[in-house]
Amino acid sequence: MISTHILGTGAYAPKRILTNQDLENMVATTDAWISERTGIKERRIAAEGEVTSDMAVIAARHALAMAGCKAEDLDMILVATISADMPLPSCAVIVQAKLGATRAFAFDLSAACAGSLFGLSIADQFIRTGKAKRILVVGAELLSRLVDWTDRNTCVLFGDAAGAMVVGPTSDPGRGLISTHLHSDGTAAGILSIPGGGSQHPQSEDVLARNMHKITMNGREIYKFAVRVLPQAILEALEANGLKVGDIDHIVSHQANARIVESVLERLDIPLEKCWLNLDRYGNTSSASLPISLDEANRAGRLKKGDLIAMMAIGAGMAWGSALMRW
Ligand code: ACO
Repeated sequence: MISTHILGTGAYAPKRILTNQDLENMVATTDAWISERTGIKERRIAAEGEVTSDMAVIAARHALAMAGCKAEDLDMILVATISADMPLPSCAVIVQAKLGATRAFAFDLSAACAGSLFGLSIADQFIRTGKAKRILVVGAELLSRLVDWTDRNTCVLFGDAAGAMVVGPTSDPGRGLISTHLHSDGTAAGILSIPGGGSQHPQSEDVLARNMHKITMNGREIYKFAVRVLPQAILEALEANGLKVGDIDHIVSHQANARIVESVLERLDIPLEKCWLNLDRYGNTSSASLPISLDEANRAGRLKKGDLIAMMAIGAGMAWGSALMRW
């Protein structure tokens, strides 16, 4: 039986670092407040002129090189993003053109911070049915241009970066994706949104004046939602496959906030050391955060052949899910 394996991983973050101390000079905040409540110490900010597809392409090239695969080998490109270069066309077709992935069809996916996990699940369907042999899944976000830099509730949280995975089939029964589990609850749409700029509130002087084209969020509600549903999603994946919490070797998680990850793992009785944390260096990079964490853990040699990896992610929507795979 064919299953889907991750053949290569890659990541990219812009050079410019914005520290918590820098933010102290921009809004009424402190390094202590940000560090204690979120675990974030610094985040990356894209250079002027740098766009989301540029970051996606660099991460993708690293993943392609690791997979030993050329851009022309790709059958499909999926970019998970809420910060595409422009509303139309998709970021994915721009990535396709920049990579020279001439054979691939390409499209974007909107599931916010859960986007890469949703993308991996979609890619899995195409691989297992034999419709595609090489798929590039990228999570890329340029959130510094969607953040209201006068709003201390949100501007301290986010950063710019991209992460990529090249997936393909494996016939090794001991390796690959075991299952993915996706969920959405649109009744919670209001707790994290960019309300302006779409068909409901098209771009206008009023939308701009009221900062409706920037991220707005109810942090407390997100926190409560995340720590409730993420443990359930991990348990659902384990139960579906007759596995136990103790079987998990690594957690690869979207990183919104260190306290969310700590609380979820505590509820599951999973030691924090099993999770690759890099939030202190990047902040919340939305769809990019999960593939970046996977890439860093992979390149650091943490993931051994056959290890059981549990992935989890949650984002605006709310949209969330989990995945299990053998490395
Ligand atoms: N610096 C200093 N004070 C601040 C800051 C800041 N950057 N931001 C908010 N405050 C203040 C608030 O104004 C409030 O002051 P008040 O009591 O005088 O009104 C006080 O701190 C407490 O605010 P709360 O929002 O209640 O703080 P809380 O303890 O809930 O922490 C936080 C806020 C860190 C956002 C928390 O709710 C959280 O982690 N939520 C999850 C949000 C998240 O991760 N969002 C990312 C996107 S979603 C995703 O990726 C899944």
